Amino acid sequence: MKPVILAGGTGSRLWPKSRAALPKQFLSLTSDKTMIQDTVLRLDGIESLPPSIICNEEHRFLVAEQMRQINIDNSDILLEPVGRNTAPAIALAAFQAMEGGDDPILLVLAADHLIQDSDTFQSKIKEAHALAELGKLVTFGIVPTQPHTGYGYIKAGNKLNIGFDVSEFVEKPDMPTATNYVNSGEYFWNSGMFMFKASAFLKALQDHAPEIYATCKKAIEKTEKDLDFIRIDEAIFASCPSDSIDYAVMEKTSEAAMVTLDAGWSDVGSWSSLWETGEKDENGNVTTGDTLLEGTKNSYVNAEHSLVAVIGLEDVVVVETKDAVMVANKKDAEHIKTVVNKLKAEK
Ligand code: GDD
Ligand code: MG
Repeated sequence: MKPVILAGGTGSRLWPKSRAALPKQFLSLTSDKTMIQDTVLRLDGIESLPPSIICNEEHRFLVAEQMRQINIDNSDILLEPVGRNTAPAIALAAFQAMEGGDDPILLVLAADHLIQDSDTFQSKIKEAHALAELGKLVTFGIVPTQPHTGYGYIKAGNKLNIGFDVSEFVEKPDMPTATNYVNSGEYFWNSGMFMFKASAFLKALQDHAPEIYATCKKAIEKTEKDLDFIRIDEAIFASCPSDSIDYAVMEKTSEAAMVTLDAGWSDVGSWSSLWETGEKDENGNVTTGDTLLEGTKNSYVNAEHSLVAVIGLEDVVVVETKDAVMVANKKDAEHIKTVVNKLKAEK
């Protein structure tokens, strides 16, 4: 088994901590380790090949340094000159893993998710591994708690010896559809982690997204070794269509299977999700750093640089960094993207 770690996201909903130069996978948000370090350490004890980490070339030294800090010195670090979303990123890793005639089972992980129960996760990886050996494209399904439109939805089909067939995969449905799915009790959230043989993924990609397949094949034939990094050719990769594995492959394939996962998974998609998963005090507050709260309830307060005092507020998010302070109503914390886009436009 070979872990493939997707580390090319921007994490803009966790502004002002997460920045273009330092996106959330490189931050310590849920433990004293960074998210990408926890992603690797969570696999401790599972027999596996060195991980493949795929990220934007701008972040290569961050990745190398953060792996060195946890004594991982044998990872393959693939550098994308531009982001083309997850289908091409996984394709590059799959082609690279098959060099030399191997066909390992890939465990595709997001570098920026939280999984609180590593033991349960590891036992689910074993179940998924057994399905992947049969040639399935395996997803990890989470019981949904609300009709979130930012997720993929998986309808469980026939029960297999292990796990389920997938009878339908729908990426990011609209709100009425998501609501129907959740109410039906038949759908799971796609966790964004996958397990399959490298060849099984590439075959599905060739069938359903031939242009991505062909471009990534060409790109991997022209990689350049630079220190410990594997550089992807810019001219070729820039011409690759941009698409996610969910739209390009999972919605279309008939080879999908699912194991359920109940291990305290969160994609840490927003500040409110950090409040949800964080350890609360007697007033329901989650705090980090030097904070002083009076008459304040159910709030998330993260102080990095100064003392932050909050008085008489409920359901707020306050995040303080050296050069920016963000205060939001907890239910609106998802709209941070609007602020980030405005800041980008001003630059
Ligand atoms: N290397 C690389 N290159 N990584 C990328 C790229 C890219 O171009 N784009 C995104 N990633 C990484 C992100 O860092 C993240 O770890 C992961 O791939 C998923 O990308 P997101 O952009 O966060 O996807 P999403 O949240 O919209 O949707 C996916 O995850 C949901 C669960 O969190 C889908 O798989 C959904 O179906 C799923 O429900
Ligand atoms: Mg995400």
